[in-house]
Amino acid sequence: MSGSLEGKTAVVTGGTRGIGFAIAERFADAGATVVVTSRSSTSCQEAAAALGAGHRGLPCDVTDESQLSALFASIPQVDIFVHCAGVSSAGSSLTVKRETLQHQHAVHFLGGVQGAQLAAAKMKDAGGGAILLVVSVWGLGGQPQTLAYGSAKAALAHSVKVLGVEWARYGIRVNGLAPGFVATDMTKDLGDKVLDKLLSKVPMRRAATPSEMAGPALFLCSDDASYVTGHVLVADGGERAR
Ligand SMILES: NC(=O)c1ccc[n+]([C@@H]2O[C@H](COP(=O)([O-])OP(=O)(O)OC[C@H]3O[C@@H](n4cnc5c(N)ncnc54)[C@H](OP(=O)(O)O)[C@@H]3O)[C@@H](O)[C@H]2O)c1
Repeated sequence: MSGSLEGKTAVVTGGTRGIGFAIAERFADAGATVVVTSRSSTSCQEAAAALGAGHRGLPCDVTDESQLSALFASIPQVDIFVHCAGVSSAGSSLTVKRETLQHQHAVHFLGGVQGAQLAAAKMKDAGGGAILLVVSVWGLGGQPQTLAYGSAKAALAHSVKVLGVEWARYGIRVNGLAPGFVATDMTKDLGDKVLDKLLSKVPMRRAATPSEMAGPALFLCSDDASYVTGHVLVADGGERAR
């Protein structure tokens, strides 16, 4: 069946809400056993229960190397790894603090790359797998006020290419998904003025829903994309086509 994930186990960081939960739901519908993670054990349990019997929710702060290692040690089989955990950050590049830069890079880049390494170790032994790193259009261009967030996503987008090339020999595909503007908790407090300005650059003139990110994620992680690796798929309502 097209897009089937039957028999696969998928780990989704940041899988308790927003884009990550929409991806987890779509993967579960496609037949995968899904492990969702976030910092909150309550949210993990609730999200796993919402996915249905057999799915798991395990707390893990992706900025903590030992928590990420323990997470992967507790999951015997990992066929798909999605790094979707994230927090946004915006502010002047004149004053952005070193701690902000470090935290953004810890969540997005270091968390994503360490997760990918831990997943790849299991996938290599099993003969292959699929990794999806959720980046952002703001990591593909020089959006003002996003030095910390954008540079962390840019590093992650670069990793997609390096890992895609390096791990192809192990049957591991590594791709990226670059959402544009998606209506989630992350974007709900932006305010009408900022929202209007952002959406004025989007040809579709609207934000995406989280589930509109789930289809591209399923494609990239399923055998439908068996010859696609090292690619960042942009899903931004046409913004970057301008
Ligand atoms: N929304 C957009 O417009 C947009 C656009 C481009 C890219 N993205 C990217 O898409 C991804 C998902 O964003 P979203 O909009 O769905 O955000 P969201 O609704 O705020 O969800 C973020 C998820 O990440 C988890 N998380 C945050 N920090 C974490 C940490 N240190 N360790 C583990 N989990 C952590 C959150 O759970 P806890 O808080 O409970 O830990 C939550 O599950 C992010 O990487 C974001 O940068 C979003």
